[in-house]
Amino acid sequence: MSSEMPAENPLPTDVPDMEEKINSNDNQVKKGEPGSDKAESIGVMSKRQMKKLMKQKQWEEQRDLRRQRRKEKRQKRKLERQYQLESNNEGSDRKRIRRDVVPSTLRLIIDCSFDNLMVLKDVKKLHKQIQRCYAENRKALHPVQFYLTSHGGQLKNNMNENDKGWVNWKDIHISSEHYNELIKKEDLVYLTSDSPDVLNELDETKAYVIGGLVDHNHHKGITYKKALEHGIGHAQLPLGNFVKMNSRKVLAVNHVFEIILSYLEKRNWKEAFFSVLPPRKGASPLGEANDSSKHELHEKEAGEDNSSDSD
Ligand SMILES: C[S@@+](CC[C@H](N)C(=O)[O-])C[C@H]1O[C@@H](n2cnc3c(N)ncnc32)[C@H](O)[C@@H]1O
Repeated sequence: MSSEMPAENPLPTDVPDMEEKINSNDNQVKKGEPGSDKAESIGVMSKRQMKKLMKQKQWEEQRDLRRQRRKEKRQKRKLERQYQLESNNEGSDRKRIRRDVVPSTLRLIIDCSFDNLMVLKDVKKLHKQIQRCYAENRKALHPVQFYLTSHGGQLKNNMNENDKGWVNWKDIHISSEHYNELIKKEDLVYLTSDSPDVLNELDETKAYVIGGLVDHNHHKGITYKKALEHGIGHAQLPLGNFVKMNSRKVLAVNHVFEIILSYLEKRNWKEAFFSVLPPRKGASPLGEANDSSKHELHEKEAGEDNSSDSD
């Protein structure tokens, strides 16, 4: 019996009483009434009929409840189908994104050989900038071959203390060796704002070096001098061709790194600069009015390399 059916024995077992009730109905054929062959059988039938009627009544009473249950089931199935569809789509999106990632052959090095020129506070800032570079490279459509060279000293200690997970970082070459020992001289190009050469196109067979330094502009020209010393190529980003800045064009490590990643994706310097540089860097597109009250950037601030902290 279904749970929606009436409870066991809902009817009195006392047949005569029942018959009495039935007999009290004028429309019913009375038991034993002369001329009624069916009287007996009607009495038995009536009992069954009574049961049937009660069941039917109960069935009808529960109609709304059943309707409600069916509706709930339908809604549940609909939600399940929707959820299934969404999770299938998400899966294919993720697959699509992964398939679209094409690593660049370009090597991008953060030269950490300036460790002894920094106070701990600035080392911590550099550490944050490096974390940012790592995260951006992992997300990039065309990630670069990322190198940290001359890794050691205060920076390594700080990473060990505050970010032990760095030892498990993927797709990055971390070495205590100098970039000179790892990469052919002719492949190296030091990125430095003091270079007279302007980088117009990225050569993905090259290894570009960024000075791992937070110096508040205290060591002006240090990376340019290093490039000359080592007899390697050097270039500044083509900021001057696309961006009007109210100050020197010295950017933080992570900004330079992100501009390179962005350029590899967009192949457009202007878009790359403006997608990365925060407005307070005083940058505006060349040819557009530069509201200096909004974009004032003092030379000292341009040399501040903690911008990734506040961005
Ligand atoms: C905060 S800067 C360090 C400034 C430092 N005084 C120097 O002489 O390089 C960090 C690094 O970002 C890179 N960089 C910053 N601005 C740049 C620009 N406009 N063009 C090319 N590289 C730049 C350089 O590699 C630089 O060493």
